[in-house]
Amino acid sequence: MQRFALNDGLVQAASPSGLPALDFLRQSAGLTGVKHACREGDCGSCVVLLGELDGPTPRYRVVTSCLIPVGALAGRHVVTVEGLDRRDLGPIQRAFVDEGASQCGFCTPGFVVSLTGFLLETESWGEDLAEEAVARNICRCTGYASIRRVIRTILEQLRTAVDPAEERIPALVREGYLPEYFLRAGELLAELEPPALPHVRSERQVVVAGGTDLYVQRPDELAEADVFLVQRRTGPPIWADGDHVYLAASATAEDIKVSQILGRTVGGLDRAMALMGSQPIRRMATVGGNLVNASPIGDMTIILLALDAELGLVSGGAHRSLPLRFFFRGYKDLDLQPGELVEWVRFKAERSDSVFSFEKVSKRTHLDIASVNSAISLRLDGNRIAEACVSAGGVAPVPLQLEDTAAYLEGREPTVDTAIGAATRARAEVSPISDVRGSAAYKRLLLGQLLLAHFHVLFGLEDGLEGKASA
Ligand SMILES: Cc1cc2nc3c(=O)[nH]c(=O)nc-3n(C[C@H](O)[C@H](O)[C@H](O)COP(=O)(O)OP(=O)(O)OC[C@H]3O[C@@H](n4cnc5c(N)ncnc54)[C@H](O)[C@@H]3O)c2cc1C
Ligand code: FES
Ligand code: FES
Repeated sequence: MQRFALNDGLVQAASPSGLPALDFLRQSAGLTGVKHACREGDCGSCVVLLGELDGPTPRYRVVTSCLIPVGALAGRHVVTVEGLDRRDLGPIQRAFVDEGASQCGFCTPGFVVSLTGFLLETESWGEDLAEEAVARNICRCTGYASIRRVIRTILEQLRTAVDPAEERIPALVREGYLPEYFLRAGELLAELEPPALPHVRSERQVVVAGGTDLYVQRPDELAEADVFLVQRRTGPPIWADGDHVYLAASATAEDIKVSQILGRTVGGLDRAMALMGSQPIRRMATVGGNLVNASPIGDMTIILLALDAELGLVSGGAHRSLPLRFFFRGYKDLDLQPGELVEWVRFKAERSDSVFSFEKVSKRTHLDIASVNSAISLRLDGNRIAEACVSAGGVAPVPLQLEDTAAYLEGREPTVDTAIGAATRARAEVSPISDVRGSAAYKRLLLGQLLLAHFHVLFGLEDGLEGKASA
């Protein structure tokens, strides 16, 4: 039985904890403003606000209800578009009408919820930030020019009415963007017991972290499953300890994007993670899920392989660790025992003489999974590469560390010739297959280009690199 706050009241859901929240909200709670469309986290029709206490007031984020289990709602505040309704149209809805930004209206609830989520958490009234917040909301008929006008209208009003430093919930209630019950949401949540979190996983339980792979692949099976939720672990997602930087398995792509520790030790990961899915997906998608899903093109996996990371695993009270490169034994075949959990991933913290680069090619620049991706980490000794670690995804049944390419690089200067030589070796070291993401020859070519791109980004090499990946 899951107890949580839903809009302005408390509810108890008797549904199995693995049921997608979308199904509970539409079928059991009758909240059909939450739309059912792609069920793959791609369209934003089903988004809701999910709040949890952060001190006396809740902090809200936007999540795709098609990918989150009912069990993950326990102890939290779920707000659907119905929960934003007032007696009259709110300012966001009014702007949609006035700007002609809604025709069939199917996408409109998702836009309204996403924009409300943005207003609740943004640090400034920047148009680019607001547009990023609705970047995954797809409108199939109206077009985006009018939706952009909606954003401008709302922000113009808020710039004069609300100081970004002001306490946000009371200010948005005052301006009519939130109904009054939001002022009592903290009390509502305080009445709920935080859900008890079992620490030991039974073998029959399905581990669900962000759900962004699982609920796309097996939604019907999960609806009936006994789920073990790992994203609710407590403690910091990323921390430094002794010689290592640790990422909890439950650290999300967004945690990586904004981490100051990673900004100092690795660099460039904010840009890399900005290319991973949309903001709600990044806030749900975890490191543990990326590794155990074992996709050959997982972005976090490719990054961690190039950092030569080590994996911490736990089963009951038994802990073990292993180099990440040995975790992937074959296509979706892992060195993971039944009942075992990924606990953390760590890599060496001392990287002051090191440089790092991640590159990915996908059919769309944003919001798309890679066709081929690659990362490289180089330790420099003066003008020479002392140590190299190179990874590549989408070019074999498993995510790869390219050992021959790394061996080739060690001891060389980072010149145009070295970059071309590394690209040639990388292409020879992989065995891609032809599939919907491209032919084997194309993927090989892409990998060569990504190697050149690493050298271009890290060392500013340009002259002489054009067209050389295919040489
Ligand atoms: C719209 C969309 C866009 C996406 N874009 C990208 C992208 O650009 N790049 C990319 O790499 N991926 C992308 N993904 C895929 C996905 O978001 C990532 O692979 C994500 O990291 C998976 O993490 P999760 O927490 O959601 O995993 P889940 O779906 O919860 O779990 C995935 C697997 O890992 C297991 N698992 C999870 N945590 C643990 C643990 N601690 N111990 C043991 N097993 C565990 C689960 O049992 C399951 O088998 C996208 C997905 C969607 C829906
Ligand atoms: S239905 Fe499309 S994101 Fe959930
Ligand atoms: S108004 Fe029809 S999908 Fe956006």
